[in-house]
Amino acid sequence: MKNNSIYNCSVVELSKIHNRAGNITIIENFINVPFEVKRIYYLYDIPGGEHRGGHAHKNLHQLVVAASGSFDVLIDDGINRRTISLNRPYFGLLVIPYIWRELSNFSSGSVCLVLASEKYDASDYIREYSEFKQLKK
Ligand code: TYD
Repeated sequence: MKNNSIYNCSVVELSKIHNRAGNITIIENFINVPFEVKRIYYLYDIPGGEHRGGHAHKNLHQLVVAASGSFDVLIDDGINRRTISLNRPYFGLLVIPYIWRELSNFSSGSVCLVLASEKYDASDYIREYSEFKQLKK
């Protein structure tokens, strides 16, 4: 897992059922998301110009969705980095273990929905970029 590459973090298109009264997107374990969801959280009321993330995980897989509005996700594997803009509620970015991520450029009122493969575990975080780079060697 330590040598996971950003090229294994994919943007997945989720189901979208459209009708006159609006849309609905459904996410089911092992159908639209390749893991069992054990935790859901969402970021909201993010002040303009703020950044979130700035860490990697050792074990955690996540699906990140711009449930409302838009934001950018920088992913970095210690060698390659790229920025993915999420701006539709029916796309999700799969972020796998040992990938550094930073979220920025949140539009006003945006909601970042995260489906996670594990319960919260503070010891699963790598919060120092220098430590991350060291572990990726
Ligand atoms: P963190 O994951 O660092 O947020 P972000 O990556 O969005 O900047 O979490 C922020 C705070 O919330 C931190 O003190 C840990 C706490 N937290 C929980 O207690 N449980 C959770 O499931 C999550 C995601 C965070």
